[in-house]
Amino acid sequence: MKRDESRGLIIGVTVGVVIGIFIAISALFCIKFRKSRSQIGNSSSRRNSTVPFRSSSTNTCAELSGSTVGPGSPKLSVEDGHGPALWMEGKKRKNTISVSGIPKYSYKDVQKATANFTALIGKGAFGPVYKAQMCTGEIVAVKVLANDSKQGEKEFHNEVLLLGRLHHRNLVNLVGYCAEKGQHMLIYVFMPNGSLSSHLYGENREALKWNQRVSIAIDVARGLEYLHDGAVPPVVHRDIKSANILLDRSMRARVADFGLSREEMVSRTSTSLRGTFGYLDPEYVSSRNFTKKSDVYSYGVLVFELIAGRNPQHGLMEYVELAAINTEGRSGWEEVADSQLEGSFDLEELNDMAALAYKCVNRVSRKRPSMRDVVQALSRIVKMSRSRKHHSKKFSVEGSGDLDARSEARSSISENTNHQRSESVDSVSDLPEV
Ligand SMILES: Nc1ncnc2c1ncn2[C@@H]1O[C@H](COP(=O)(O)OP(=O)(O)OP(=O)(O)O)[C@@H](O)[C@H]1O
Ligand SMILES: [Mg+2]
Repeated sequence: MKRDESRGLIIGVTVGVVIGIFIAISALFCIKFRKSRSQIGNSSSRRNSTVPFRSSSTNTCAELSGSTVGPGSPKLSVEDGHGPALWMEGKKRKNTISVSGIPKYSYKDVQKATANFTALIGKGAFGPVYKAQMCTGEIVAVKVLANDSKQGEKEFHNEVLLLGRLHHRNLVNLVGYCAEKGQHMLIYVFMPNGSLSSHLYGENREALKWNQRVSIAIDVARGLEYLHDGAVPPVVHRDIKSANILLDRSMRARVADFGLSREEMVSRTSTSLRGTFGYLDPEYVSSRNFTKKSDVYSYGVLVFELIAGRNPQHGLMEYVELAAINTEGRSGWEEVADSQLEGSFDLEELNDMAALAYKCVNRVSRKRPSMRDVVQALSRIVKMSRSRKHHSKKFSVEGSGDLDARSEARSSISENTNHQRSESVDSVSDLPEV
């Protein structure tokens, strides 16, 4: 009997131990599985958190919708054929290890695409720029960081990290990069119509029409508005100038060159002056403190450059200041109009744009409008000019005057206008009203 009891005990203990081991193994598996799931979850949420775009752009800023979210997103801009998603397709997939989602290319691939670095487009402070055709058939611009360049590795990494996060239809988007054999290269969307400066000052170029100049001013304003108000954290460009505005096939403008860009949060001050003579905010020159409003100043100079067709490095702003003495309210700016326009421009539109640009170049940065204010004001100016054209058509058809109504509208705008540089433009209400 005792023997039976002890046998039962042994069997019981053995079964218990087996069950225990089984439960322990199952628990271990469970823990491992849950851990790996949470890791996947973490990495995807990390990825989402690096997307710098406000999910709900304000409706006052129509063009913030022109932004596209980072690589991997279904919303990625493939519409213009330059979205990184396109680049990640095909047999070169193994090369697409990337910093912040930007495809990385091997030196060999880039060498082949540029026909051994022979198709030179131009050379800037960063280094030479080559035209290239990638294996996908895509035409791109490859910017090679020169070894003797004043701009160095820091700018390179800054640009890759920065542009990896920024996508907008009015920015020259980065579509790839190469860091190999001591060489650093940035691969951009190719802009077939080159730089704005080449159109304003290049020989054998047809003069830009007034409407093209207006649309370029709007495109640049939208690109900058996105950098200032759409990107999180905000980005200041620091080198807005006509050489850094590039034009696509249909002459739509995009802001290029983020080599001098800095996230405002990271570096608000620097010891040496950066940017381009002629476009530099006087307040930045004296304080060495570069802000969004310094970009606004450069933008104002750029708008005057578009109106006058004069190089800021050759006395544009002195010319503007002289003209400002004679401008009454909002009128009189036609005096600075580019002679190449041959008088073909909408006079009121030109005056409104110049008045807005003059606010942007106010010596006191606080009194300059924000880029969002500028975009809104430009939209109103264009809307107003369209409605004037529509009315004048109607007027000529009906043969009766709504002239009074139109002049009334003009005078209400003029009442809001004051070319004095001391005027505050911090609020939207100070800007041209429709
Ligand atoms: N994505 C692009 N598509 C077409 N042409 C480009 C592109 N990027 C640059 N270029 C052209 O290459 C040339 C050199 O450009 P780069 O930006 O290096 O110099 P820059 O703008 O003249 O001066 P900086 O170095 O001060 O910016 C310019 O003529 C420019 O128009
Ligand atoms: Mg440039």
